[in-house]
Amino acid sequence: MFWLIRLAGKVAIITGAAQGIGASTAKLFAKHGAKVIIADIQDELGQSVCEDIGLETASYVHCDVTLESDVENLVNFATTKYGKLDIMINNAAILGEAKLSILDNDKSDFDRVISVNLAGVFLGIKHAARAMIPAACGSIISIGSVSSAIGGVSPHAYTSSKHAIFGLTKNVAAELGKYGIRVNCVSPYLIPPSVPEKITDLYPDIFANIYSNIKGVALKEEDVAQAILFFGSDESKYISGHNLAVDGGFTTINPGFGLFAPPKSS
Ligand SMILES: NC(=O)c1ccc[n+]([C@@H]2O[C@H](COP(=O)([O-])OP(=O)(O)OC[C@H]3O[C@@H](n4cnc5c(N)ncnc54)[C@H](O)[C@@H]3O)[C@@H](O)[C@H]2O)c1
Repeated sequence: MFWLIRLAGKVAIITGAAQGIGASTAKLFAKHGAKVIIADIQDELGQSVCEDIGLETASYVHCDVTLESDVENLVNFATTKYGKLDIMINNAAILGEAKLSILDNDKSDFDRVISVNLAGVFLGIKHAARAMIPAACGSIISIGSVSSAIGGVSPHAYTSSKHAIFGLTKNVAAELGKYGIRVNCVSPYLIPPSVPEKITDLYPDIFANIYSNIKGVALKEEDVAQAILFFGSDESKYISGHNLAVDGGFTTINPGFGLFAPPKSS
């Protein structure tokens, strides 16, 4: 099969890449010729992802994205080791407590989610920009969610953080375009292992039979990684300030009413 190498010579940082979408993205980026730096707080798991990829290509850096000194050190690692940073992927996030009433939500839980999911992304963008501005190029990609576009799918703090990431993305895209830096979001639908049992027990149909999902296709981590690859590669060189939904159409349709919806069984 013809295999087009799309990231030859590029250097990418991926936060939260010890597992899940981040690990899958690191593997795909490495296949496409990128040097990848995996940043996470799960050191053993992160190191083992690097070993799977190959230590010539992948490095692990401990980084808690809520700590500016860690994020600064992470970006410095890339510029010291490779002399540049081409792609920054702000992927680390937490769902927070799945408490379905706002009355049960503590401010400390809210602050914690905002700190990882929003302040962590802010720090990732800030320090990536520090490295990218002198080079006058770069691509910054933050992982949103269907909860960056609609309400009612995730806990309050998570939805707030994901909406805010897209606002930040648009603002920073407006600023950094003059340096040749693109800033975008990739926003997936839910992928099975990451949804708490409390939710899947209540809504067993969320991975299938969703009116707006494409029939016969289940979203996988690799599908999200492919969308991130697009933004990392030069194929997206004229796209900035965008929020790409990888959701089978879920956020474009109101399931409450639809001319094309399958008939509801009563
Ligand atoms: N999986 C889904 O269903 C889904 C759906 C929509 C959006 N997303 C988004 O995709 C991204 C990846 O999701 P996932 O399901 O692969 O997540 P995951 O929970 O499998 O992995 C997240 C990683 O982030 C790391 N992490 C958590 N806090 C951190 C911190 N403070 N500093 C550094 N690393 C930290 C964790 O250790 C973990 O390795 C997230 O931004 C998530 O919000 C996921």
